[in-house]
Amino acid sequence: MNSLPANSPRWFTEIISEKGGILSFYDYMNIALNNPTNGYYGSGKAKIGQNGDFVTSPSLSDDFSHLLAIQLEEWILQIKNKLNLKKRITVLEFGSGKGCLLGGIINYFLNKNSQILNDISFKIIDLNEGMIEIQKINLKKFLEKGIDIKWVSLSDLEDDNLNGIVIAHEVLDAFCVERIQFKKGVIYQQGVQLNKENQTLDFINLQLTEEIKKFIKEIKNELGVNIPPEDAPEEWTTELNIDNLSWLENLSRKINNGILLIIDYAIDSKKYYSPQKNDGTILAYKNQRAFREILHSPGEFDLTCHICSDLLIYQAKLAGFESLGLVKQGEALLLLGLAQKLFEIQNNLKNDLSQALIRREAMLRLVDPICLGDFKWFVFKKSSNKEFSIESKCINKSI
Ligand SMILES: C[S@@+](CC[C@H](N)C(=O)[O-])C[C@H]1O[C@@H](n2cnc3c(N)ncnc32)[C@H](O)[C@@H]1O
Repeated sequence: MNSLPANSPRWFTEIISEKGGILSFYDYMNIALNNPTNGYYGSGKAKIGQNGDFVTSPSLSDDFSHLLAIQLEEWILQIKNKLNLKKRITVLEFGSGKGCLLGGIINYFLNKNSQILNDISFKIIDLNEGMIEIQKINLKKFLEKGIDIKWVSLSDLEDDNLNGIVIAHEVLDAFCVERIQFKKGVIYQQGVQLNKENQTLDFINLQLTEEIKKFIKEIKNELGVNIPPEDAPEEWTTELNIDNLSWLENLSRKINNGILLIIDYAIDSKKYYSPQKNDGTILAYKNQRAFREILHSPGEFDLTCHICSDLLIYQAKLAGFESLGLVKQGEALLLLGLAQKLFEIQNNLKNDLSQALIRREAMLRLVDPICLGDFKWFVFKKSSNKEFSIESKCINKSI
């Protein structure tokens, strides 16, 4: 796949040497992304946005967050009224990046329904201190207005106590993965090895761990998908999202009544583990370009991997969530009023055509089926109360 071996920067050489010169792919990815001093997110050097390494929907403009806020408003009112809650309703975001999604949501409420802000407690959980610092700077203006935003960790939250909405927007794709490779009839765990003589990194095949064997068996038993698939070509390689289940379980434990909305790149298991996807889904991003050279310049590139949709739904169920629907982003945004918003932009910005065109183009990117429009919205419910039902505008019931 890659032009290999890849040069190892000095900081990375020191870390991998301390660990004996070999890392699992999971550990490689974790250091490259989350190392506090040099990791892409850990150090806070991640550049998200039009002038950065990659765009996310809320980093394009506030329009995405405003449409999502319409859905949040509907959910919040239902949760409040049905549960007759006296406490504030939590809106918790995992992995906020620069904080633009929450910023856009709060802006929407300030303009359209500022009363509702008295009922909401916003919370952010982010693994990386470097990103938290950026979020605090970007959201400072809302804190100064008295909006309730807190940075917490999951362990700060009491079990069975969260009533509200949890959003994970483009964060599961940043969770670290294991990689496996099929070679000469055997499946190996992929690792990363340092060549001490010339300070370079290359892949190495390792014996499968018991955890990986169990994961592969579960995919076969529960989803009926073989890994490797029949007809897998030599050196067929794929990723295993091994952190999702424990994340779902830990989160589920905290929720009393609530919605979990996961928005991410996702494909089903048949495609994910097909012989044609012979190099997995992982990509490195820099300057708005995708690369397959995932060992190059650790810490300088974003590394991102697709989610396996049916596996995620199965695991969410194991963790106690009920799936309310899976919808493509393009459809969800249309159901939330994207067409009407386009019309408003055209009308409101009649005298500023260039601004209207920029906003329009950004909105069309959100629904472009070969781009952000193909993102999947997974809507889950977790409830201690069997009677607790919830309607969702973003899910088309007739499909
Ligand atoms: C791709 S960015 C998401 C950007 C943001 N949600 C947006 O849409 O613009 C990934 C974010 O997730 C954070 N992150 C990565 N792994 C995480 C984890 N296990 N728990 C919480 N946050 C995590 C990163 O620090 C980073 O802020």
